[in-house]
Amino acid sequence: MRILSGIQPSGTLHLGNYFGMMKPALELQERGQAFYFIADYHSMTALTDPAERRRNSLDVALDFLACGLDPKKTVFFRQSDVPEVTELTWILGTVTPMGLLERCHSYKDKVAKGISFNFGLFAYPVLMAADILIYDSNIVPVGQDQKQHVEVTRDIAIKFNELYGETFVIPEPQIRAETAKVPGLDGEKMSKSYGNTIEIFGDEKALRKKVMGIKMDSRTPQEPKPDADQNLAIQILKLVAPAAAAREYEDRLRAGGLGYGDLKKALFEHYWNHFASARAKRAELAADPGYVQQVLADGAARARSVARKVLQRARAASGLE
Ligand code: ADP
Ligand code: TRP
Repeated sequence: MRILSGIQPSGTLHLGNYFGMMKPALELQERGQAFYFIADYHSMTALTDPAERRRNSLDVALDFLACGLDPKKTVFFRQSDVPEVTELTWILGTVTPMGLLERCHSYKDKVAKGISFNFGLFAYPVLMAADILIYDSNIVPVGQDQKQHVEVTRDIAIKFNELYGETFVIPEPQIRAETAKVPGLDGEKMSKSYGNTIEIFGDEKALRKKVMGIKMDSRTPQEPKPDADQNLAIQILKLVAPAAAAREYEDRLRAGGLGYGDLKKALFEHYWNHFASARAKRAELAADPGYVQQVLADGAARARSVARKVLQRARAASGLE
């Protein structure tokens, strides 16, 4: 069974990325052959600073390795190190109806926000389909917001197979209900583009300030809070703290007597401890950039040998040779 996912190097990774995508993906490393990559071609649709792309790509690599990606088990690579995927993007684009892309939420949201969009942004789901199909992927672990893109991938693969004969494996998205949508500091979906993130790694003082700055309502500490499960700090605490500890805070908040300041302090401590060993590992890895480059180079070579075969299949099926 092949498991595949990607993440864009478009900013610093946050708890939404971690609990929505990275953690489930890391757990799946044990269940099959995992292929995980840094989607640097995709990042070009939004980010145009080369130095930033380079820095972010290295950061994503460090974050993933620090969080437990095992390069002995998992093929870990940079998307652009397998340029075959762009040829497959073209081929798939020719069987992709315009309407399918016009219906994509992520594209529509960006247009609605007035973000000036380029052809790459519109074609984004076709490149993503190529990413998935070129490795004969079965399972694609992602957060809820990427589900539609995996469905588009399925539609494109089915269409190609109908036209040119069985060529591609039809993939399935895998979404964890409990972390499908991790809330950000403002209660909306945590996202780099909303400026409401808690980063996985970063400066302790700045992160403490962010967590302590989470807005709460004006009820007094003594007041019982029957809606304790809706509290944002409790929701995030449930992700980073042991279940019993999170339940205890939830019960204390519900009963009354727990102040929001103390709750946020506890949240910060649990969050900081949750990533303590990953943080130490990250510092170790950051001191050895040669190792990270080697991991990515090995990953690219392994990914590329699979991609070449599948691309060949698609070329042959469609009469390109
Ligand atoms: P962002 O919204 O911060 O730009 P990306 O779109 O790069 O994040 O998402 C990378 C991966 O992390 C995707 O699989 C996405 O579904 C997941 N993800 C991002 N934010 C969240 C969130 N708040 N909750 C759950 N999953 C998330
Ligand atoms: N579009 C995904 C995101 O923003 C990243 C991505 C690119 C991806 N190609 C992929 C995810 C293939 C899964 C499979 O999060």
